[in-house]
Amino acid sequence: MELKNVKKQYKLSEGNYVKALKGINLKINEGEFVTIFGPSGCGKSTLMHIMGLLDKPTEGTVYINSQDTKELNSNGLTALRSQTIGFVFQSFFLTPNLTALENVEFPMVLNNQNEHERVKRAKELLKKMELSERANHLPFQLSGGQKQRVAIARALANNPKILLADEPTGNLDSKTGEEVIKLFKELWRQGTTLVVITHDSNLASQAPRTIHMMDGEMVKDEKNYAHIKELIKETKKIDAHHKAFDVKNKGGEMQR
Ligand SMILES: Nc1ncnc2c1ncn2[C@@H]1O[C@H](COP(=O)(O)OP(=O)(O)OP(=O)(O)O)[C@@H](O)[C@H]1O
Ligand SMILES: [Mg+2]
Repeated sequence: MELKNVKKQYKLSEGNYVKALKGINLKINEGEFVTIFGPSGCGKSTLMHIMGLLDKPTEGTVYINSQDTKELNSNGLTALRSQTIGFVFQSFFLTPNLTALENVEFPMVLNNQNEHERVKRAKELLKKMELSERANHLPFQLSGGQKQRVAIARALANNPKILLADEPTGNLDSKTGEEVIKLFKELWRQGTTLVVITHDSNLASQAPRTIHMMDGEMVKDEKNYAHIKELIKETKKIDAHHKAFDVKNKGGEMQR
């Protein structure tokens, strides 16, 4: 995924704009685990919506798998999104009149998967999130942390190549938060590209790469080589990841 000179302005009134992103240049290679870290209001969610093709930049270009997404019409964008990207939103966006299980099934319905497979996968994912006993609950019958875990299960439904998560541990106690981070590391080892937004410095520092944002700009592109080594040691896909990192590291500190 690559962003070139991505700017986003929100119009408040005539001549009155918020500059949420001020020219982001960022390349994330397949199989990377990146955290995006910065204070409230610095543009993290805006960046995630643009990366995930949910919103268009005011200026600049977003490439997914080398495809210039400006060249796609809305059907093309929807197809690319539903086949490639999983989302965990800051405010969950669970569908209120669907049960936990049905919420997890939903992306698979959009992807035309048959009911038997759908239910099987949704149950597996809920089990992984320790929510089997809440499968038939509606969102209002769940705690904040449980809703968050349903949202994570839903994001994984179609086995996305890219997972974008906005404050995925924001509503979790530290133990459940650790479980979610462990799950992310597992996904990373299996080859998923992970982009995790957080203002939790503990979570941010667990990834091999952290993008620091401030006031609509990328201010630091930090690589934690110790983590890369440690994580790679755990991984079974050592070669594939080595390759990804070699390519990445040739780009130097700031990639433009
Ligand atoms: N729809 C909108 N209309 C106008 N301004 C907006 C809109 N959405 C976001 N903004 C503004 O754009 C800036 C970036 O917002 P964004 O939601 O991306 O921040 P964030 O880094 O995700 O913050 P937080 O950590 O609090 O979630 C903020 O100043 C915000 O007020
Ligand atoms: Mg946000």
